[in-house]
Amino acid sequence: MNQFEEQAEIIRQEELTPEIFRLTVKAPEIASHALPGQFVMVRTAPCYDPLLRRPLSIHQTIGNQQVQLLYKVVGKGTRMLAAMRPGHTLNLTGPLGNGFAFKNRPAICLIGGGMGIAPLYFLAREILRVTTPPKCVVLLGGRTAAELGPLPRDFKDIGMTEIHSATDDGSLGHHGFVAELLPKHLDSGHDWTVCACGPHPMMKAVVGQCRQQGWQCQVSLETMMACGISACLGCAIPRADLSGPYLHVCKDGPVFNAEEVAWL
Ligand SMILES: Cc1cc2nc3c(=O)[nH]c(=O)nc-3n(C[C@H](O)[C@H](O)[C@H](O)COP(=O)(O)OP(=O)(O)OC[C@H]3O[C@@H](n4cnc5c(N)ncnc54)[C@H](O)[C@@H]3O)c2cc1C
Ligand code: FES
Repeated sequence: MNQFEEQAEIIRQEELTPEIFRLTVKAPEIASHALPGQFVMVRTAPCYDPLLRRPLSIHQTIGNQQVQLLYKVVGKGTRMLAAMRPGHTLNLTGPLGNGFAFKNRPAICLIGGGMGIAPLYFLAREILRVTTPPKCVVLLGGRTAAELGPLPRDFKDIGMTEIHSATDDGSLGHHGFVAELLPKHLDSGHDWTVCACGPHPMMKAVVGQCRQQGWQCQVSLETMMACGISACLGCAIPRADLSGPYLHVCKDGPVFNAEEVAWL
């Protein structure tokens, strides 16, 4: 797998909410090799504080030239990233990890919670570009309508027709958790492939339902990551049968078949 280090010029920094930002950078090597589900390691400041790069999913690529990231400010690194402006440069390595397998699937459901929605938008675009699944459902979850911001419309604008939202406070769509939308919108007559990314409890609920229904489920997992290139072993997770060597999210994932990993 090709990986690159690029000194990427910031093209746009959009503040979608006071906490959520969408950053567009010029990184032609990464843009032209990236697959949906892959991520980049970002040096969030021009200096070495913070020392460690931060992992962020690729939200979309634009014209083999630009890479877009969607991120939430949660700590020092993302706060410094949000302070960067067009014209500044950002050091990125990527594309890293593997991607979702989405070709030749009869019916696909993309289900994301919070910033887990970030890689699903890239996936949605690629599904529409390279395949014509007879059925594709997008389920988006957030704490509030404000947190989801423009995302439901973004999916609609690229041609996704079946999009449903769920919010914790009921301010948009279903009042409750996004996993609760699965039985409502996925009919058992189809052979579904479910692609999920979000907080652990959401993923666990999705995996449980997929098992019950016999649907194939791919999950994009998040762990703490120090290197992103399989050198520090900090992203180890146990296999489903708790035997053998641990899996590493940065190298073996971040996308896994849900049956490969342990759901503790
Ligand atoms: C494969 C992958 C893809 C991701 N994609 C996105 C995305 O598209 N959008 C988004 O908003 N967030 C994403 N995250 C989470 C994001 O990496 C963390 O929110 C970010 O690293 C926090 O950095 P910080 O310095 O602001 O926070 P701090 O809490 O100050 O970070 C301290 C340390 O903990 C690590 N860390 C903290 N939270 C996480 C976390 N949830 N996952 C991994 N490492 C963490 C940081 O990398 C850093 O080394 C992703 C994580 C992974 C593993
Ligand atoms: S993050 Fe270092 S080995 Fe995976």
